[in-house]
Amino acid sequence: MDKIVVRGNGPLNGRIEISGAKNACLALMPAALLSEEPLTLTNAPRLSDIRTMTTLLQSLGVEVAAMQAGKVLSMSGHSADNHVADYDIVRKMRASNLVLGPLLARHGQAVVSLPGGCAIGARPMDIHITALEQLGAEIELRDGYLHATAPGGLKGAVIDFRFASVGATENLLMAASLAKGTTLLKNAAREPEIVDLADCLIKMGARIEGAGTDTITIEGVDRLRGATHPVVADRIETGTYMLAPAIAGGEVELVGARLDLLGAFTEKLDACGIEVTQTNTGLVVKRRNGRVDAVNVVTEVFPGFPTDLQAQMMAVMCTAKGTSVLEERIFENRFMHAPELVRMGAQIEVHGGVATVTGVDKLRGAPVMATDLRASVSLILAALGAEGETVVNRVYHLDRGYERVEEKLGACGADIERIQGDD
Ligand code: UD1
Repeated sequence: MDKIVVRGNGPLNGRIEISGAKNACLALMPAALLSEEPLTLTNAPRLSDIRTMTTLLQSLGVEVAAMQAGKVLSMSGHSADNHVADYDIVRKMRASNLVLGPLLARHGQAVVSLPGGCAIGARPMDIHITALEQLGAEIELRDGYLHATAPGGLKGAVIDFRFASVGATENLLMAASLAKGTTLLKNAAREPEIVDLADCLIKMGARIEGAGTDTITIEGVDRLRGATHPVVADRIETGTYMLAPAIAGGEVELVGARLDLLGAFTEKLDACGIEVTQTNTGLVVKRRNGRVDAVNVVTEVFPGFPTDLQAQMMAVMCTAKGTSVLEERIFENRFMHAPELVRMGAQIEVHGGVATVTGVDKLRGAPVMATDLRASVSLILAALGAEGETVVNRVYHLDRGYERVEEKLGACGADIERIQGDD
């Protein structure tokens, strides 16, 4: 397995190009199942999660052509004839559950293994299941698989999500686009990835209003056509790299980054002393003074502080001035990076979903273990400002969500290299 070695060596200066959003692309790709005509995505990120979704769609009969080294994905659902999403693929990534709605809409039946993914909590599927049942599906769990059928076809309904689940909102947007009649989604997720999916579906002929608010109306249509759609910029990758100069100092321009996608995250950056300037091409980020100030963080659904940036923010708080309290409200087990940061000299106490971080002057390099996707990158960020060498083991999680991280940070002067593993 590959390792990443980082030697903290002072300020970062340079430009980083922001990739298309992994989470948007993972939701957009299954939309290819909804049409007989090709769906082409441009600005796709080159990540192992995207390759996993490609393999899953191919197993369902979708033809996928990757062009421009994977930056353009053209998918044809013309001969997609399989409705069984196999455990061997689905277990690698929770987002595989995003084929459930499209398969049901297309075939009137779907068999989808319960997903795996990052070990950050129980992550059940009840919200997806209840909502699809309200559209007329019958769903039961047998042998680790969800068996879903829609005997009379999917029919529009009023759905009031008990929680604004991102994945459930996406599954329902796709399923309801081909249902008979009108669907009203209440307490829908408002994340930018939802807006991106809705924009793409609208190009395909779907009739959707309200995406980006908590109430979305979908008027079902008989068929969807093909379309070409650019994947929105990755707000989590953006936020991650905004935090690199917060730890290491220097000034970094994030090309293609969009401030309007960042919600409460930018307010927290401002509060801890990080200056963000919008340019014609993206965002320029630097520290206002020296060490940043401690701030408290509570993770919430969009536009609140994203759970996917909590680990990275904790890495920043490890060397901030003062004590900060980080509360994780979206996932129940998302502090696995804390003991690894402690190995580097951080002072962190975790009680349930609350972590208290007392800033120290400097972290020291150490061998650490990447436990999940965002935890991995938080260790790299911490290492950029640490004294000595940090070896981040098990970086396959990182490759699921960050494109060429060592090249992007290396181009800004970071001393970072990948050591290829044997397997
Ligand atoms: C998506 C993102 C993930 C991000 C998360 C929250 C993708 C591919 N992944 O994940 O990076 O961290 O949004 O912003 O887009 N839940 C239930 N029952 C359900 C569904 C969810 O209890 O049926 C719970 C989950 O266990 C979790 C919370 O709701 O505690 C949030 O989940 P959800 O919004 O569905 O996240 P994902 O779509 O899985």
